[in-house]
Order: sequence, then structure tokens, then C-alpha cells
Amino acid sequence: MDWPNFDIRAAANSAGIFKQNSKKSQGETNIPKDVLENLYGKDARECPRLNDGFIPVLSKSRPFDLIELEQLLQSVGWSQRPFQRVKRALSNSLLTVGLWKHDSRFPLLIGFARCTGDGVLEATIWDVAVSPIHQGSGLGKEIMKYILESLRDLGIERVTLFADPEVVDFYRSQGWTLEPKGHKCAFWYAN
Ligand SMILES: CC(C)(COP(=O)(O)OP(=O)(O)OC[C@H]1O[C@@H](n2cnc3c(N)ncnc32)[C@H](O)[C@@H]1OP(=O)(O)O)[C@@H](O)C(=O)NCCC(=O)NCCS
Repeated sequence: MDWPNFDIRAAANSAGIFKQNSKKSQGETNIPKDVLENLYGKDARECPRLNDGFIPVLSKSRPFDLIELEQLLQSVGWSQRPFQRVKRALSNSLLTVGLWKHDSRFPLLIGFARCTGDGVLEATIWDVAVSPIHQGSGLGKEIMKYILESLRDLGIERVTLFADPEVVDFYRSQGWTLEPKGHKCAFWYAN
């Protein structure tokens, strides 16, 4: 495990990491505003339509079906966790983000991430996942942009995360820096 961290203020001024997608900035959307808000909440964001025609939507407030969430997390290779603990972890999180394949009746969960933190100064991102069949389409990056914008809105100044070695470059390419190993982080495990 490596421990990248992110200077959210510097990032705001660099490389357009907080830029909204071009469709949104041009005011072009596919889903009517009232439908978007009713289904996904006020802070929902439509992502650019993918090649196979569906519209991905990011939301901080649409509730999760725990079985659907666990299926998504297992699909990326993570082991199942007890539902009651997951439920409490979600409700204790600072932010939970769902990425949905839009459907006006049955949106499908295709991505997820959550953050813990004090809500003021520091936050840590966990459980970033995109369904394997939708990986490689820019959706992981959209989730990260949405999270960092949300954290910036809260005034949070430093964001950290754990990354497995095979995804370090995913974060590095988005402006994250790796802590020098053993210099600044410490870990304690219950078992
Ligand atoms: C890591 C993950 C969230 C990335 O999602 P994704 O939708 O496939 O990523 P994107 O398509 O947005 O990729 C964005 C960029 O990162 C690159 N990238 C994606 N996955 C990468 C990886 N594992 N290693 C290096 N670069 C990667 C892409 O090539 C793309 O580069 P580009 O902007 O130059 O085109 C996804 O692969 C996943 O869910 N993996 C399994 C769970 C996991 O390991 N999560 C991370 C926990 S620390």
C-alpha cells in the first residue's frame, strides 16, 4: 500500500482538475433537470454520454442498495463485508458517491467511492471502484473530480488515500503525489 496525498488548493489552480465537463459548462444536458434532481439529488452531475449511448450520472445523495453496492465492489475483486458494518461505515462517512448508469426507472450502480474525515480540514478517500465492463472510459477520473470538487466546497485542505501498487499511476496522472515511503505515514492493524 502506498499513501498518496493531494494538495487540494494547488490542484485547483493546475491542470484543470476541477473543470467541469464541457457539456455541462456549455449548458448542454441530456436529462431534464427535474428528472435529474428527483432521481439523483440536487448535487447530481451528468457525465458525458459514453460511446454505447448511456448517460453516467454522479450523485452524493441517491441512496444505495447494499446488495447492489457489494456486488459492484466484489466485481472489482474485493471481498464481501458484513452488511451491518458496511451500512454503518456509509452513514459515518463524510461523503459517499455513486456513479449511476442512467435509467429513468432503474438506475444501475456502476461506480462508487467514499470519504471519511473531519469535514473541515482533512479527508481520506476509500473504495474507489468502477464496474469492470465500464473501466477505461474516463469514469474513474470523473468520480475523482466530483469528489475533489465536493471536498473543496467543504473547505478541506488536504486529501489522502491508500492505493494498491497497480493503481498508483491512475492517481499520479491526476496530480496526486506519493508520500516518501516510511517518512510520514504510520499504520496500525487490529490483526
Ligand atoms: C482504478 C479505477 C477506479 C479506474 O477507473 P477507470 O474508469 O478505469 O479509469 P479512467 O478510465 O477514468 O482512467 C483515467 C486515466 O487513468 C488511467 N488508468 C486507469 N486505470 C489505471 C491503472 N490501473 N493504472 C494506471 N493508469 C490507469 C487511464 O488510462 C486514463 O488515462 P488517460 O487519462 O491518460 O486516458 C478502476 O480501474 C477500478 O475500479 N479498479 C479496481 C478497483 C481499484 O483498484 N480501485 C482503486 C482503489 S485504491
